[in-house]
Amino acid sequence: MIAIASLPKAELHLHLEGSLEPETIMRLSERNGIALPFADADALRAAYEFDDLQTFLDLFYAGLTVMVTEQDFYEVTREYLEKAADDGVCHAEFHVSVQGHLGRGVSVDTMMSGISRAFEDGAAELGVGASMIFGLQRQRPLEEAEAAFEDFVKHPRWVALVSAIGMGGSEVGYPTAKFRPLYDRARALGWKTTVHAGEEGGPEAVREALDGLAPDRLDHGVRAFEDAELTQELIDSGMTLTVCPLSNLRLKVFDSIEAHPLAKMLRAGLKVTVNSDDPPYFGGYIGANFVAAQRGLGLSDDEIIQLARNSFSGAFLPEDQIGRYLAAFDRAIAGR
Ligand code: HPA
Ligand code: ZN
Repeated sequence: MIAIASLPKAELHLHLEGSLEPETIMRLSERNGIALPFADADALRAAYEFDDLQTFLDLFYAGLTVMVTEQDFYEVTREYLEKAADDGVCHAEFHVSVQGHLGRGVSVDTMMSGISRAFEDGAAELGVGASMIFGLQRQRPLEEAEAAFEDFVKHPRWVALVSAIGMGGSEVGYPTAKFRPLYDRARALGWKTTVHAGEEGGPEAVREALDGLAPDRLDHGVRAFEDAELTQELIDSGMTLTVCPLSNLRLKVFDSIEAHPLAKMLRAGLKVTVNSDDPPYFGGYIGANFVAAQRGLGLSDDEIIQLARNSFSGAFLPEDQIGRYLAAFDRAIAGR
């Protein structure tokens, strides 16, 4: 079986705030005087038992309130990049829940100075490149999203660190189409577009998001596979899906790894990638997600290689940079 850590890969679906380890949450909560209803990191980790997406999101939004200073944003971003480097990640795209920070009085400059300093150090010291995905929250009002966007785009040097606009948050009952004007604004800035859909919502939610936003990429998308016609459309359009197996298990989208459709999706011709979403919350970083799929679904070495290769061709990077990553990837595989 191919060694996962030795395989170069890009992580395309990762939430900065979802990369907070329980120990980091407790450390920052003490440092910043933010009270949390958990005695220590073990008590917090013990609460990571989720019934569904919403029970996770409640903890996710509570946890991110400990991020206050530039140094906090630096440390959290850097901690993820160090773990990612150990897993063979050479490029990472971070969803950042901008509204979750600006709404608490954190400034765009505070947030972005820390993130950008970690991006610089991650590239120079760890060899991991990174960009940010401006992550909207679909259950929140459009006006709040617009205000956060306007606040952010006043700063050209931060706009340059963003590769895409995206959208997470509660899925069922929260259609995407009202956010179309912001997606069009993002496209005008040269950003790519992605959206979470087909995680808890069924194929109809994926259809709504495709029609509503015309995204370049689909986050999760696993439940699109329940609809043969939709699946064929996604194959024909070459849509990249950022699948997160351990997330889907922890949020009870599927009962077991054996029941996860990743292998069938890949074999049907969908361009799927493997990602971690919110690693400490869901029990593993990208390497653990690959290993779970490799063992639980009996993926061949060639299939694992295809999944990793898709992560570069589906990345939100300039074409020439994708070409360089793919050439290096193919050299690494040939030299195995
Ligand atoms: N789905 C929706 N919103 C999110 C997620 C997710 O998996 N992770 C962090 N925010
Ligand atoms: Zn996500």
